[in-house]
Amino acid sequence: MIRKALYPGSFDPITNGHMDIIQRACTIFDEVTIVIFDNPSKEPLFSFLERKEQILKVLGAYPNVTVDSFKGLLVDYARDHEFHTIIRGLRAVSDFDYEFQMALTNRKLGKTIDTIFFMTDEKYSYLSSSLIKQVCKYGGDISAFVPAYIEEALRLRYE
Ligand code: PNS
Repeated sequence: MIRKALYPGSFDPITNGHMDIIQRACTIFDEVTIVIFDNPSKEPLFSFLERKEQILKVLGAYPNVTVDSFKGLLVDYARDHEFHTIIRGLRAVSDFDYEFQMALTNRKLGKTIDTIFFMTDEKYSYLSSSLIKQVCKYGGDISAFVPAYIEEALRLRYE
């Protein structure tokens, strides 16, 4: 049996924290599918297409990772593509309420779906796409937070 998992997020843009979760998920699952979704409470900087291209560029070396995007409910995507496992990263206690709510809502909507949490590596525990965008926007150094390709994409966007 192939063990496959879905890693959803807005990935606007993908960070070293996301990359760490993906690398670790790849050691547990045979196939990991990263799916870019809309988060209605966030205004994206990059389009779906741009984010997908960025992720493909920085994750080229992972043969068991695929990338997709979807406008709609996570549970609908999971059902249509036969996923039963969702991966999410947990950075700090402050993430817990939101993640707990999402995991329970998804489980209520899709009875066969479970969410598995990866504790972030401590060196990425403070990272978030939103903060990285803010730092970049005002000219700060983001090279430790994102892959070089993403750093360049952010710089170009804010130029
Ligand atoms: O990286 P994010 O922004 O924390 O990811 C949140 C995301 C995109 C996974 C969440 O907003 C989501 O699942 N969006 C799809 C719409 C949906 O299913 N919403 C209900 C979630 S309980």
